[in-house]
Amino acid sequence: MTFDYENRKPVIAMRDIKKEFSGVWALSGITFDVYPGEVHCLVGENGAGKSTLMKVLTGAYTPTSGSIEVDGTTYDKLDPMLSKSLGINIVYQENDLVPSMDVVENIYVGNEKTKGFGLVDYKSMEAEARSKMNELGIDLKLDTKIENLSVSDQQFVKILKALSVQPRVLIMDEPTSMFNVEDAAKVLELTKKISEQGIGIIYISHFLNEVVQIADRITVIRDGAVVRTYTNENRDTPITAITKDMVGRSVDMFYDKEKCPIGDVMLEVKDLQLTKDSPKISFTVRQGEIVGFSGMVGSGRTEMVRALVGADSRYAGQIFINGKEVHISNPNDSINAGIAFITEDRQKLGLMLNASVLENATILGLREKIKGFFVNIKKFPALIEPLLKELRVKTPSVWTEAIYLSGGNQQKVVLAKWLYAEQDIYIFDEPTRGIDVNAKAEFYKQMSELTKKGKCILMISSDMPELISMSDRVLVVRDGAIDCELTGKDINEQEIIKRALGVKKNGR
Ligand SMILES: Nc1ncnc2c1ncn2[C@@H]1O[C@H](COP(=O)(O)OP(=O)(O)OP(=O)(O)O)[C@@H](O)[C@H]1O
Ligand SMILES: [Mg+2]
Repeated sequence: MTFDYENRKPVIAMRDIKKEFSGVWALSGITFDVYPGEVHCLVGENGAGKSTLMKVLTGAYTPTSGSIEVDGTTYDKLDPMLSKSLGINIVYQENDLVPSMDVVENIYVGNEKTKGFGLVDYKSMEAEARSKMNELGIDLKLDTKIENLSVSDQQFVKILKALSVQPRVLIMDEPTSMFNVEDAAKVLELTKKISEQGIGIIYISHFLNEVVQIADRITVIRDGAVVRTYTNENRDTPITAITKDMVGRSVDMFYDKEKCPIGDVMLEVKDLQLTKDSPKISFTVRQGEIVGFSGMVGSGRTEMVRALVGADSRYAGQIFINGKEVHISNPNDSINAGIAFITEDRQKLGLMLNASVLENATILGLREKIKGFFVNIKKFPALIEPLLKELRVKTPSVWTEAIYLSGGNQQKVVLAKWLYAEQDIYIFDEPTRGIDVNAKAEFYKQMSELTKKGKCILMISSDMPELISMSDRVLVVRDGAIDCELTGKDINEQEIIKRALGVKKNGR
């Protein structure tokens, strides 16, 4: 399908937008527009300026210069109220739903429908939400509390909420990063349907395969400037070309784990039970090995590893490291036992946002490395800078507070912290979520290096290519139990999905 730009006018047009943050130009003159009914994808490396540009559009940031035209009126800045009233709405990646309220209440919070005497008209909100859901093919129980919904259903609620104010432009900033393949496909379908209703969509994602599927136009930005816009004529462009535009050079996107000898069992988990009634879980990870944990979102993978590292309580189970039983009842015990746990929710759990990049990255490693009383803080940057460079962390300096880094760069700092800490056993939960393709390749290299140094890795991942190319073995988790182990040729997407969904050999 091709989009007809000839006879239409953009619903919004941003012109030569510049944004400076204390001497650093996050945006150095971006011109970007979106047409009604179009999906315009915005891609670029971590820190390229995507979220900043969108914050200018939602009025969260005031541009240093430039203009924004909406319906023939030109503004030199917007504020959040004005932006909303002009029909610009955003689906944030962070969760902004109220857990204790139900679906209908969340969709209309702050925007309730009322009947006489200002009473909230739940019935009419419910009816409207239901008709919207039918129209878009979403299936949710409207009176369910948010806290009882799966992550992907919560995402649909966020989208319904954004649509309830009849926006003309909908911004989606990495909407599928929390999803497995199937749910991500649903979001893509939904996005297409929304655009067909005449809403202009700005879609930001690091999943370039999604981007090429859904886009009418793709704009690539690098270092705060537009590199290229792919339109109808050239939108069959391969992902490799887009990546090259993003990074400025070719990137090897296919990275396999490098061969290394597999040694003895390093980590053994025996009869781990989260609660009295939950299944018993046992598995091992050998020296030099990467074991992938696959399963649908909500299958219980994260819960398993959280119980393992003492982040959550467990009912029963033993943990052995190099054959010796260890007692882990809190995350500190697990660090002392030589385990690194890189959580999926990095901002909340992995970083001290008001501390510098340097402090964040070295806090664990230096504990081990510094012996003696006298430390020369001036020497610290030289210790960590090579690693930060390898992971392509974009920051004005190592002294910058972590809060000022882009989402993806914050994640890289957490990865750097654990890599620098040189633990023996690495547990990664969705390690490359939100990280651009180029940094991903670097990170995979680091993973290979770890195994070559005789460490072992347990990796939860919903990113199929990553799971398949990096894992020596894959354990498929379903309903809180390990359903099966896949090795060799059986580590393929079809087999993994089949097992994760619980489809038996005879197809039932
Ligand atoms: N409030 C701020 N103060 C200082 N610098 C900032 C601020 N917000 C963003 N930046 C800087 O602006 C640049 C662009 O960041 P932005 O968040 O727009 O990147 P992004 O393209 O969304 O990246 P990601 O893919 O990692 O989300 C980064 O270098 C970041 O450090
Ligand atoms: Mg961003």
